[in-house]
Amino acid sequence: MNNTENKNEIASINNLGTLPQQILNQDALLQNAGKLLDSMLDLKDLMLGYSCAIKEIRTKLEILDKEFEVRYQRNPISSIHTRLKSQTSIMEKMARKGYEISRENIEKNLNDIAGLRVICSYVDDIYRIADALTNQDDIELISKKDYIKNPKPNGYRSLHLIVSIPIFFADHTKIVRAEVQIRTIAMDFWASLEHEIKYKKHIENPEEFAEKLKKCADVISYTDALMQNIRTEIDNNQGEKTEEELIFEKLKRFDKSLGE
Ligand code: GTP
Ligand code: MG
Repeated sequence: MNNTENKNEIASINNLGTLPQQILNQDALLQNAGKLLDSMLDLKDLMLGYSCAIKEIRTKLEILDKEFEVRYQRNPISSIHTRLKSQTSIMEKMARKGYEISRENIEKNLNDIAGLRVICSYVDDIYRIADALTNQDDIELISKKDYIKNPKPNGYRSLHLIVSIPIFFADHTKIVRAEVQIRTIAMDFWASLEHEIKYKKHIENPEEFAEKLKKCADVISYTDALMQNIRTEIDNNQGEKTEEELIFEKLKRFDKSLGE
């Protein structure tokens, strides 16, 4: 055996010697990867429930809006926005609130993983939609915060509902919670700008902005009340309709697309 052959043999014996260790390390690595994937899939499964809750509640809201449109030729809902809380935000909120991260803890303590924002035309539509939704047999109202009757000190107004809804999977039913925020177009306009300004850093005089925003909130609240008043008055002062007008109204209702 020459020198090179000798070296090669020693190297291969050494490799054989480390092989079991490598296999062991690889096993441990695979086991860890397996565990990690299991918890990622568990999280995916959890998020599936919330995403289905958003779909179910959105459909309920769309049905209520359509029913109102066909019966009364008016849409109480101007738009619906939904969002599934990101996994980063879930982890961040759990840490902020001091909860240990587990599936049970997330389900028990976070009510806003599934979020729906319903934008209505008028203030009375907000309560009409909230009542119609929470009166449904499969919906349970967990809690309600009425920031319209009791606005936040900064001027924020909105109706917040935490509801739960059953989701029917192939082999089990899961009760899932969701947050539904209902507000007028005007309230939403204010909240969006306030949210944007709140997170702008390096504002030199935040108190001055807070004061201006509060003034805007008051003007918006007054405008919402006036608009509501105008619509109620118009609804109540329709006057007697002729036979012909009534027929045309019924025909218009019949012509409405059902948007299937
Ligand atoms: P978290 O903020 O989610 O921990 O909830 P909370 O228990 O304090 O609930 P609350 O119902 O007061 O607020 C929930 C959500 O309403 C927030 O995440 C915002 O989307 C919205 N919100 C509440 N207060 C304000 C506000 O002052 N300004 C704006 N723009 N949005 C607000
Ligand atoms: Mg929230």
